[in-house]
Amino acid sequence: MAGYVTIAPISDFLTGRGELREGKIRRYFLEGQEIGVSYWKGRFHAFSNLCPHNQFQFHFSVVDEDKVWCPIHYGIFDLETGARLGGPTNICDLPIYHVRVAGDHIEVSLTE
Ligand code: FES
Repeated sequence: MAGYVTIAPISDFLTGRGELREGKIRRYFLEGQEIGVSYWKGRFHAFSNLCPHNQFQFHFSVVDEDKVWCPIHYGIFDLETGARLGGPTNICDLPIYHVRVAGDHIEVSLTE
């Protein structure tokens, strides 16, 4: 399927005080893929929820310092590009997906 698809309501990322929670990674499923979504520095980001090394699920970790962190073998990935910045050398970059907000929902495109 091409194009943007609704993946979650923005309310999934609100704190009890109604503020957007930075750095938390939530897991969703889209077109058979596990997608991690996080709010960081004013916008939403989407990426594969599975570490390219040993498939650790990032929703058990966080986004911080503009990076996605894997605590298992210390893999580090750039939040914008998915580039591997640290950890095992024999792994691929992290797939990054396009995100947009439509009303009170978050949409992700796996192809655009
Ligand atoms: S499982 Fe993520 S770096 Fe090994």
